[in-house]
Amino acid sequence: MLKVEGLTVRADSLALVHEVSFAIAPGERVGLIGESGSGKSLTALSLMGLLPEGVTAAGKATMGGNDLVGVAESRLKRLRGRDVSMVFQEPMTALNPLMRIGAQVAEVMTLHGTPRAQARQKAAELLERVRLPEPGQIARAYPHQLSGGQRQRVMLAIALANEPDLLICDEPTTALDVTVQKQMLELIAEVAPALLFITHDLAVVASVCERVLVMYGGRVVESGPIREVFTRPRHRYTEGLLAASKLTPRGTRLPTIKGSVPPAGRFPDGCVFRNRCPQATPTCETVPALTGDGHAFACWHPAD
Ligand SMILES: Nc1ncnc2c1ncn2[C@@H]1O[C@H](COP(=O)(O)OP(=O)(O)O)[C@@H](O)[C@H]1O
Ligand code: SF4
Ligand SMILES: [Mg+2]
Repeated sequence: MLKVEGLTVRADSLALVHEVSFAIAPGERVGLIGESGSGKSLTALSLMGLLPEGVTAAGKATMGGNDLVGVAESRLKRLRGRDVSMVFQEPMTALNPLMRIGAQVAEVMTLHGTPRAQARQKAAELLERVRLPEPGQIARAYPHQLSGGQRQRVMLAIALANEPDLLICDEPTTALDVTVQKQMLELIAEVAPALLFITHDLAVVASVCERVLVMYGGRVVESGPIREVFTRPRHRYTEGLLAASKLTPRGTRLPTIKGSVPPAGRFPDGCVFRNRCPQATPTCETVPALTGDGHAFACWHPAD
């Protein structure tokens, strides 16, 4: 359904995302993980045609046969929300503070040609579907009158309004407290037609997704079924991420990946993880290819 081939994102001459390829089948739930600065958000934004000023995407991405990269804004506007739609981390910036919730949900449908009365009716149904209490009251409220968790549900209702085939969520629950977070995740897993879920929280990915893509330095370094990747990581970066996320008994030291994610443009040549990897050898000065069916990884000296 979604097919991404050789997606590269640049700001001026600097490549921020390199040759990323992956696919999502109808109904599939895929996690995209990696430390902050790995290129997760730019990958998602390029699929939505929502890259920031001065940042451009090249390569190929298609959704049900429609091109998503390198097409005119007018055409993307029609696809956005209908083929692919996205829920962001901070709903307050995405909602119009001066417009009532019900009208905002209805507007995304009228913009796509749904008659006004029908859009109003469907907006009410959507607010109920994302399990907002008292949906009628919420519809008449303004964004600042809702809690963070309620606003995030409204964003989900907006994202679902035009019945997209794929939902992209970028760290949708990071700003919410733990119990609200859990309810939101269950809701997303239930209502998403197919899902690309971005997070740095490995436990969340394990509970929501079936497959995972691990990104580092703007590249996919490992991908495969969650169970396999999480129980038998092969790339040394994935191995480090998992070790750092393990809960350790009180008093024992949490293993962490040494060093920190370099700023864009400062990753080493060859394997991008080379300057932080305990297993690096001179061979790693050559870029390792992402290989393997099902469970794939790009590492010269994989863990076993
Ligand atoms: N508008 C921009 N101009 C230049 N560099 C950017 C821009 N947006 C993001 N970057 C850089 O691209 C890299 C990847 O960013 P991002 O996709 O946001 O990472 P993630 O979502 O994994 O944290 C980071 O080094 C970030 O600083
Ligand atoms: S290719 Fe080399 S540097 Fe990169 S993760 Fe594998 S062992 Fe480490
Ligand atoms: Mg991000």
